Amino acid sequence: MQLADKKIILGITGGIAAYKAAELVRLLTQQGAQVQVVMTQAATQFITPVTMQALSGNPVFTDQWDARVSNNMAHINLSREADAIVVAPASADFLAKVAHGLADDLLSTLCLARNCPLLVAPAMNREMWDNVATQRNVAQCRADRVVILGPVSGDQACGEVGMGRMLEAADLVQDLIAYFTPKVLKDRRVLITAGPTYEPIDPVRGITNSSSGKMGFAIARAAAEAGARVTLIAGPTALPTPRQVRRVDVQTAQQMMDEVLGYVNRAEIFIAVAAVADWRVENTSAQKIKKTATVDATLKLVQNPDILATVAGLANPPYCVGFAAESQNLETYVQEKRRAKNVPMMVGNLAQTALGSDHNELLICDDKAVTPLPRASKDELARQLVTLIAKRIG
Ligand code: C5P
Repeated sequence: MQLADKKIILGITGGIAAYKAAELVRLLTQQGAQVQVVMTQAATQFITPVTMQALSGNPVFTDQWDARVSNNMAHINLSREADAIVVAPASADFLAKVAHGLADDLLSTLCLARNCPLLVAPAMNREMWDNVATQRNVAQCRADRVVILGPVSGDQACGEVGMGRMLEAADLVQDLIAYFTPKVLKDRRVLITAGPTYEPIDPVRGITNSSSGKMGFAIARAAAEAGARVTLIAGPTALPTPRQVRRVDVQTAQQMMDEVLGYVNRAEIFIAVAAVADWRVENTSAQKIKKTATVDATLKLVQNPDILATVAGLANPPYCVGFAAESQNLETYVQEKRRAKNVPMMVGNLAQTALGSDHNELLICDDKAVTPLPRASKDELARQLVTLIAKRIG
């Protein structure tokens, strides 16, 4: 729950993307946020206040002259209690109002009267977005420290294709979480490997390691939320790319090594989470090996390069963090690996509790301390690890 105790005012303006606001409320409340919905009159044409009340668990405000508010100052009361106002979707008209300080309905008035951050997610037809007036208003909003989330390019409800689609609800929630996260790695360049590698035998067969990639992706996300510039070198996995992360997909250990060496010079921190295959097949077959060709088959395996040890051995290495999956004697084996690979920090986890799960527990061994991180979600552990790394590099 990354938004626990956060009070969010969700403003909804008139646009077809208003239907995404329903999903947004659900995701925000799942993250622990308390959501108070304020809708413009136009928004109520697209989605009903009843829907938004049911999802948020709070009565919806649509009117400046709401008799439920005893002092009749909903515009003041609401924003004073909020940690942020998020307007999604934000129409071209609404952006124009904010840019000019207009206050002719409840939502625009409370934005003008706010003493908390304002984040807006524009949604409109591509011509409306490209219009010089809208671009002028967006630039003015930015100059006034309004945070603009999106929009993105894609199919539009009107049938056209272009810039102006509202960000998906899940992306907005990630951006909001990032907004509230302390920037302990601000502008640090972080390089991360994640997932398994896949070593082909022939065009249809291969050997690989068991690894979902979840831990590495969670660390990439936590580092990006903490303000880092993250490059993620990922083996085969179906996981979505975390927001604001540059992802490079690879298959084999050698490809992972090549990409890591291509990026490592600019990295200040290298976190090797990938379960790299220790061996690859010496002679891969360009054609599918026929089962009939031979009854038994023998594979000759050769060792893959150790990416982490190679990076740690560079003349001017980044701060290196390794991961070790063991099935027993965690601390002893982790410390042995830390010394063998000559890295300042090695993170141990038990394969039997970690593999494929959304939860894990970690043992962080470095030259300063042995720090156990008790069982929690991989997202939560990733945040704790990022905080510790930030402390160590100072
Ligand atoms: O030796 P072991 O494979 O257990 O070490 C695990 C650590 O080393 C992980 O951080 C993993 O990403 C890294 N590693 C690597 N290249 C390899 C094997 C492991 O970078 N070929």
